[in-house]
Amino acid sequence: MNNRIFFTGASGKAGKHVASHLATKGMKVLNADLYNYKQPNIDYLNIDITDAAQVFSSMSAHMNVDELRENAEPLKYDTVVHFAAIPRILMASDIETYKVNVMGTYHVLEAAIKLGVKKIIFASSETVYGLCFAHNKPDPLSLPVTEDDLVRPMDSYAMSKVVNEETARAFQRRSGIDIYGLRIGNVIEPDEYHIFKDFCKDPTVRIPNAFNYIDARDLGQAVELCINKDGLGFEIFNVSNDQNSVDLNTQEIIKNYYPNVPLKYELGSQECLYSNKKIKNMLGFSPVYDWQKQL
Ligand SMILES: NC(=O)c1ccc[n+]([C@@H]2O[C@H](COP(=O)([O-])OP(=O)(O)OC[C@H]3O[C@@H](n4cnc5c(N)ncnc54)[C@H](O)[C@@H]3O)[C@@H](O)[C@H]2O)c1
Repeated sequence: MNNRIFFTGASGKAGKHVASHLATKGMKVLNADLYNYKQPNIDYLNIDITDAAQVFSSMSAHMNVDELRENAEPLKYDTVVHFAAIPRILMASDIETYKVNVMGTYHVLEAAIKLGVKKIIFASSETVYGLCFAHNKPDPLSLPVTEDDLVRPMDSYAMSKVVNEETARAFQRRSGIDIYGLRIGNVIEPDEYHIFKDFCKDPTVRIPNAFNYIDARDLGQAVELCINKDGLGFEIFNVSNDQNSVDLNTQEIIKNYYPNVPLKYELGSQECLYSNKKIKNMLGFSPVYDWQKQL
């Protein structure tokens, strides 16, 4: 099992749950982030991913003092999990969001490949499909939303994720290593399930997400599956729960909110409109935290 992980952004909303999941599976995790979020069995290094030197230097260093005492030469990382980012528009200026996400990702990918890392898993986003931060609430081109859909971003954050996917694809082409990108849906932490009551009262608030969500702990399972699956080369996976995020069945959601959107096939009555079939079929993903049970 690959078990030495360089994890950028493991202090964040999604990363802290994913890093904790990997640590409980016995993997050695270094959280490389601007800020420390202390968790058991997770080491921390302060880095800024927009500085290539810091990324190279930290990815080629010992993980902690114990490692330093045991090994004169630092060990190689088996896997890089790259989550650090500005995670949406309107948190920083558009140009800062684009710069941090695009240059940060370039630095992480370049360092990982030049330092001989054999697996990279990076956080892309549902926003690449151009629904989330778009003007005029565009319809999806078809339903369910699948990985082979056209990407059509309209904002700096979604653009940064599309560029990052292409950057990763280029690095994979040259290196031949495994690089898997996760088009993560709307991340929900364990203490956030109360908001599903609001989603049910006004389902229109879920249109920008094509009604998807993903529990941060299930995202941990998805990353673990990526770590344990070798040999796929470059792949992109949507990551979402099996269910939609409101108390309407799939046909009711389509009838009410997507009356003019062509269907790729006949959907099941509880099938999610943001398809997770690819990661289920290829990696055996099986989300366990559905919102009705968590409420
Ligand atoms: N939250 C969601 O619903 C969602 C959905 C889709 C994709 N994503 C993606 O998942 C990843 C994690 O998102 P999140 O919600 O946990 O975001 P977050 O803001 O909670 O966490 C991001 C982490 O990255 C760190 N970071 C930011 N800039 C950095 C820099 N220059 N150098 C080092 N560290 C830096 C932050 O300190 C933070 O700990 C991001 O790539 C985001 O774009 C999130």
